Amino acid sequence: MKTHDVYFDDSGKQPFVQFLGSSAISQSFVLCDEITKEYCLPILQELVDLGDFSIIEVPKGESNKTIETCNIVWRALTKVNADRKALLINLGGGVLTDLGGFAASCYKRGIHFINIPTTLLAMVDASTGGKTGVDFGSFKNQIGVFSAPVFTWVHSIFLKTLPAMQIRSGAAEMIKHGLIYDAQHFEDVIINFQNPAPFISDSVAIKQAVVTKDPTEKGLRKILNFGHTLGHAIESFFLNTSTPLLHGEAIALGMILETYLSHKHLNLSNKDLSKILESIQRFYSLPKIEPSAYQNIIDLTKQDKKNEHGSVRYVGLKSLGKAVYDLPLHSEDILDAFAFYQSL
Ligand code: GLY
Repeated sequence: MKTHDVYFDDSGKQPFVQFLGSSAISQSFVLCDEITKEYCLPILQELVDLGDFSIIEVPKGESNKTIETCNIVWRALTKVNADRKALLINLGGGVLTDLGGFAASCYKRGIHFINIPTTLLAMVDASTGGKTGVDFGSFKNQIGVFSAPVFTWVHSIFLKTLPAMQIRSGAAEMIKHGLIYDAQHFEDVIINFQNPAPFISDSVAIKQAVVTKDPTEKGLRKILNFGHTLGHAIESFFLNTSTPLLHGEAIALGMILETYLSHKHLNLSNKDLSKILESIQRFYSLPKIEPSAYQNIIDLTKQDKKNEHGSVRYVGLKSLGKAVYDLPLHSEDILDAFAFYQSL
């Protein structure tokens, strides 16, 4: 998979308009859901002249990140005989950019797509790096391909459409980028937690640096999963309760547990441990996990995509800004981490 450019704020206008008007494009389609159609499309139209385009609207939310929703996209494209030079502009959060990228990559063996993320989470994570796909039953992102957008255009103007809890959710991935790769970025995000916009480009630069070295996650890219082995399992567990967690909240909790395991197994210092835990706890009010849930969560970690030869793996921190991947995660460690979490 090739890597791709990311443009920020108004610097994306010119390449966007130029690509839209180029001979590489026969027809343009904006993929949105009912929310981004109402709140984000008008903003995009104020930023640039989209020329002739059609809207493809799909139902919103993780529960619709399915192959059935891809059928809606493929039917809409087929109905108007969209050819291989068609362009799909994915305007939305991570569900929409993942699904749109996948649908575009399969239609007639691949048409162009551009991601315009509208949530902080999608800006700093999902919309860059070329992971596309849909869920399959309860398995997240089970069906998908690596496929790069023509480019991603991150415009912080869309942040004004988001409630505070969505900003908190996205900021968890920014914290993660700092913890695994750049201690200064961690400091910046923590100090400016209420106003992350000026640090989005740094966060994306970290992700791009990692993805460029390992686009298809053979090794180094795994560090982007810090907090996710336990975080994803916890997210899936809470999905089936009356109090589901936002992705970033689950990852914040996963980062606490995996930071503790880093202290236990990688000699992460007491100083770094306290600093990380205090920062995460300051911004996220995280749920209690009942001991009756422990085994369920352990079972859910067995479905993680990083597992190899049946063994569960996680990412740890040697120090603030330095991550190690492919660490084995045993059930006893998970129980120990839960006991630690309970004691906080
Ligand atoms: N979200 C982690 C990655 O793109 O690899």
